[in-house]
Amino acid sequence: MNDLSEYPAYKRLDLPVVGAQGSYLLLADGRRVLDLYGGHCVNTLGAGEAQLGAALAQQWQTLSFTTNLIETSTRASFMEAVAPSLPPGDWHLFCSNSGAEANENALKLALASAAAASATDDRRRVVCFKGAFHGRTAAAAAVSDGPPSGFPQTPFPVTRLDWGSLAIPADTAAVIIEPIQSLAGVVEPPDCWLASLRAACDRVGARLIFDEVQTGSGRLGSSWASTHFGVTPDIFTTAKGAAGGFPIGLTFVTAALSEKIPSGLVGSTFGGGPLALAAARVVWERVSSGELPANARACEAALRAALAAQPQGPVRTVRGAGLLLGLELAPGLSASAARDALLEHDILVGTCNDPQILRLSPSLTCAPQAVASVIELLADLWKPAASLCGSTP
Ligand SMILES: Cc1ncc(COP(=O)(O)O)c(C=O)c1O
Repeated sequence: MNDLSEYPAYKRLDLPVVGAQGSYLLLADGRRVLDLYGGHCVNTLGAGEAQLGAALAQQWQTLSFTTNLIETSTRASFMEAVAPSLPPGDWHLFCSNSGAEANENALKLALASAAAASATDDRRRVVCFKGAFHGRTAAAAAVSDGPPSGFPQTPFPVTRLDWGSLAIPADTAAVIIEPIQSLAGVVEPPDCWLASLRAACDRVGARLIFDEVQTGSGRLGSSWASTHFGVTPDIFTTAKGAAGGFPIGLTFVTAALSEKIPSGLVGSTFGGGPLALAAARVVWERVSSGELPANARACEAALRAALAAQPQGPVRTVRGAGLLLGLELAPGLSASAARDALLEHDILVGTCNDPQILRLSPSLTCAPQAVASVIELLADLWKPAASLCGSTP
């Protein structure tokens, strides 16, 4: 008799979830938990959203799957929905299935365009930043910080710079950056740094890649971090919430760069399939119309107003923008203990690599007052301050 158990990839929460609706998780004992983590920026429209469900059902009945060798009207409708939100310029798009894949393809295209630009120039270096997370596949892991990637070598030479540095080596083919580092602790770029980085890339001849796996899809209160910060990269990626919970990875590259790259360099069986793009169309119609970014801004404003009303509470500052927020706790408080205390009161929030930061990344349809309620609850829990002083994660 064979036995099968799961490889221990995840440290799971003790949370008996049996369903989810909108911004609430439903537990086996009947409790409703406000989900301010949103499955890590994934549940853009909230759980079980009706329009997305109907689009998937209709797509399944009409054309459930077809090879990428065949053009579909679903793809055309998705492209039409996303185009108005794009940063200025002409763009080409390649579709895959995850954030790591989107970044893997971005790096491949950047390196290929560097090679195409000069047959003599040995430009193969990729620059990334301390604290970065870009995924777990070989190239994405090579430019991520943290525990060993698990691969014996990197696919290209890597230089890892301090956050805020402009010291790009002369042989750099590509610079990859999360415009706001999420896992590191919702770390924002220093003022004007992204614009300086853009200029430094142009000086050196390097391609600038924005990893917008978390910051894209309207999350920051504008369609993209590039529009939020007013800096346009050569290549950018997104995934997570771009299809509202259906697996997707998107790699956008300027038409000018793409036209110089040999064709046939990337490909995917499932990437850009009809179901994923039918789901993504529903999300992007609501991002491009401005509806979801506007709600993200309203939620951020409500949370900041709640914080201003609780100056003596346990939250010292708020980092990030829209609905990618980090709550910096007072010295001595532990984010993991605060997360556990909130969960006992039916609010789920995230932690991250910084033990002082709670992370919020809920649905972009979440009610502003629901988002703000975490500040009030933390202030109540703060009164017996010792309850939040647990061990760090
Ligand atoms: C900024 C960023 N890039 C890339 C990834 C990898 O995405 P995926 O898990 O879909 O491969 C993640 C996942 O958390 C991420 O946060």
